[in-house]
This record gives sequence, C-alpha cells and structure tokens, in this order.
Amino acid sequence: MQKKYHIEVWGCQMNVADAAAAARQLEAMGYTEVPDPADADVVLLETCCVREKPEHKVYSRLGELRPFKAAKPDMILGVCGCMAQKEGKEIFRRAPYVDIIVGPRRLNRLPELIHNFLTTGKRQLDQEIDENPDEIKEVDYSRITRLGEIKAFVNIIEGCNYHCAYCIVPFVRGKFTSRTPQSVTEEIKKLVDAGIREVTLLGQSVLAYGRDADREFDIVTLFEMIHEIPDLKRIRFTTNHPLEITDRIIDAVAYMPKVMEHFHMPIQAGDDELLRMMKRGYTVARYEESLAKIRAQIKGVSVTSDTIVGFPGETDEMYEKSLDTYRRLKLDQQFMFVYSSRPGTPAAKMENQIDNKVKVARMNKLVEVQNNISMEINQAQVGKVVSVMVENETGRVENQYTGKARNDKSVVFTATNNKIYTPGDMTDVKITKGHLWGFEGEVSE
Ligand code: SAH
Ligand code: SF4
Ligand code: F3S
Repeated sequence: MQKKYHIEVWGCQMNVADAAAAARQLEAMGYTEVPDPADADVVLLETCCVREKPEHKVYSRLGELRPFKAAKPDMILGVCGCMAQKEGKEIFRRAPYVDIIVGPRRLNRLPELIHNFLTTGKRQLDQEIDENPDEIKEVDYSRITRLGEIKAFVNIIEGCNYHCAYCIVPFVRGKFTSRTPQSVTEEIKKLVDAGIREVTLLGQSVLAYGRDADREFDIVTLFEMIHEIPDLKRIRFTTNHPLEITDRIIDAVAYMPKVMEHFHMPIQAGDDELLRMMKRGYTVARYEESLAKIRAQIKGVSVTSDTIVGFPGETDEMYEKSLDTYRRLKLDQQFMFVYSSRPGTPAAKMENQIDNKVKVARMNKLVEVQNNISMEINQAQVGKVVSVMVENETGRVENQYTGKARNDKSVVFTATNNKIYTPGDMTDVKITKGHLWGFEGEVSE
C-alpha cells in the first residue's frame, strides 16, 4: 500500500522551503502527500519559535494530534524546524507520543531518522548544529509539477551571525553557512525543469551570501549564474540586513532584467537609541542613506520592512521618534511585531520590560500610521502600467486573476476578450485602484 505523509508549517519562508525539501525527501522514499493527518503514516510539524505565540500553537496542535496517533499507533509524528531545536527533549516530555525531533541543520537526516525509528522503535532526537551540514539529497522534484506550482523558495544561507538582542534565530539555526553557488544553481535548474518560473533566494541576511567562503562568490555571482537558466523568469531575494546593502548589489537589481525590484530591508526601530539597544549595528541616518540610493537607482522599486514595538526600555519618546521616522521614510509596507521575550536572548534579561497594555496601544497606533502610508503609496499608482506574472484565478469573479508586479505588490485583474491565462504567464496591467494589499487593474494591450 502507498505510504502517505502530511506536513504543517509555521514561521517564515525558510521553513516553507525546508518543509518543501522534507516533502521531496519523503516523496523519494515513496510517500505521497495527503491533506488530512488522519490518513497519514508520517505527520511532520515544521515549527517556529521567533515569538511565543507560534510555540503555543505547536504544543496545542500536538495535543490535537494525540487522538490521531492513538487511533493509528503506527503513525510517525515528527517535529522539525526552529522550535524542535529550541525545545528538544522538552517536546518529548510534554508530548511523549512524538517519535522524531529534528533541528533545522539536520533535516538532511530525516530519512535516516525515520528508518532508525522504524527498525528500532526508539524515539529519535537530532539537534546537532554542524558548521557545515551535509546538503539534503533530493531526487524527486515531480511533486512540484503535479501541484502546478510556479514559485519556489530556495534557502541559500543557513543560520545567522548577527546578534540582535531580541532574536532567537541564531541560537536555533546556528552560524552563517552559505551553500555553494553550484549547488544552488543545480537545485534551481531542477525546480525550473519541474515547472517553477520564479525563485526567492532566502537567508536571514541573504545579501551576506559568500561572506563565510572568503567572498569567493557573492549574491551577484549567484544572480548571474541563475540568470542564464532560460525558463526562469523572476528572481527574488530576502531578507536584506541594512548593513549588507552595497552599490554592486543595487546595480545588479537595477540592471538585471530577471532580478525583481524589491528589497525587504527590516529597520526594526526608527530611533537610534533603540537600534543601539537592539544591537542592530546601524543608525536611522545610515538606513536612510541606503534607502535613498536604492530609490534613486532602481526604477519602480518597493522597499518593505519589519519592525518591533515594545522592546525593553522603549520610552514614549523613543516610540514617537520611531513613528516620525516611519512617516518620513514612507516604506511600502512593514510587518509589525509586538516584542516577545525569548528565553536565552540578551533582551529577555533587560530591565524595563514593557507592559502588555502599552505594547498593544503602541502597536495599534503604529499599524494606523503605516497603513495610511501604504494606502497613499498604492493609490498614487493609479493609471500606471505594471508587468504581472499571473499566479491563479481568484475564483470569486469570472475571468479574474491574481499575480504579482515586479516590485512584489499583489495585482488582481480581469482578463479581457475571454483570454485564458495559465500560471506563469506574463501580462501588462493598468492599475485602476490602489488598496492596502496592492492593486486592482485591467489588462493593458
Ligand atoms: N533575519 C531577519 C529577521 C528574521 S525574524 C532580519 O534580521 O531581517 C523576522 C522578524 O521577526 C524580525 O525582522 C523581527 O522584526 C521579528 N522578531 C524577531 N524576534 C522577535 C521577538 N523576540 N519579538 C518580536 N518580534 C521579533
Ligand atoms: Fe535575528 Fe538579527 Fe539574525 Fe535577523 S539579523 S535573524 S533579527 S539575529
Ligand atoms: Fe521562525 Fe525559525 Fe523562521 S524561528 S521566523 S522559522 S528562522
């Protein structure tokens, strides 16, 4: 009988990429994907621990899965991802019916861990953080074709060498390790052969690519190599630490036709004292300088960011100063987070932790400020024509499709002349309306 698997994913795009890699490993072992965990022989949770909430969700999900496991004792239940690394044995303690725990740096060992569990019946735990982990050996990319997917995430750097005071990522994903450009290119070729048309190159600080390899190569080298893949249409990259922006990178984004005009460049705070306490390594002025260069040299670029409110010691003045900075910078969009204390990070031990009520009030105001900016920017685009890669039919209105502009903004448009679009098609769309989430438009012949 065909063996089946089911994977659930929390957290960032790196986890989405890891879950896809885990899926391909399982496919290579003869498993097929099922939407319902009740039908699966292997259930994996790809977990996140960057804030407290996703961790709670995983523990409660494990509780929900317990009856499935009781009904089907042969089912293998595995926890992977960042929280597997952070919690380790604690997961076995709180959910003794879990069979496999594997950290992000050891995901390549998943098939071996499943095999070991099946042959010995013993629970498996692997949390090693190797400096140079073996790459996942993947053979089966056919799943992508079957799902009709056109976009894929590709992790090119594992880990992070920064030490932002609030952040747990370096503790759970280890030190910075770049994959070789050859290996990344090989993977992308296979993805493109299987139908992928857009890749997003991922790392916690993706522009630092190659730094650990004495800069024998950098992200621009990689852009150049994958630019040559004929059926690859679009190249994206994220996340961009502000300190890593260089003229060489800005030029590459400006002049390479397949590299999309979007920087996700988290600022985290708009006040120099806060940035210093967060150990981000730059000032607001330095951020603004890079932003000005990017905007001056790259036509149509969008710049998005992450920001945190309620970092320990954040005074009313610091917070107001941040808001003023955001009003001035007018970033296209920001992902806004309420500070969440993470055990083991320096910020967790700082004095002046902020009261939750204050954090929530600050968050609400911030959301209002940023949303007004985003709306204003998007509404000012009405009448412009953007190049859209079609992703899906919306299914809400006949002949209505969704896709993305080059600068990563979502576009919903209605096809004229009953033209049928398939995912990956390109079309020009004239913007008729700006929304918080992106644009509405019509096909521009
Ligand atoms: N490497 C990326 C960030 C990865 S984590 C970068 O530095 O740009 C994604 C976002 O989560 C961060 O940008 C930050 O805004 C937020 N974040 C990280 N730790 C957090 C914490 N303890 N509380 C709240 N938000 C946090
Ligand atoms: Fe965390 Fe900072 Fe590294 Fe981003 S750069 S993953 S926020 S330590
Ligand atoms: Fe979460 Fe790990 Fe990503 S902690 S944000 S899944 S790197």
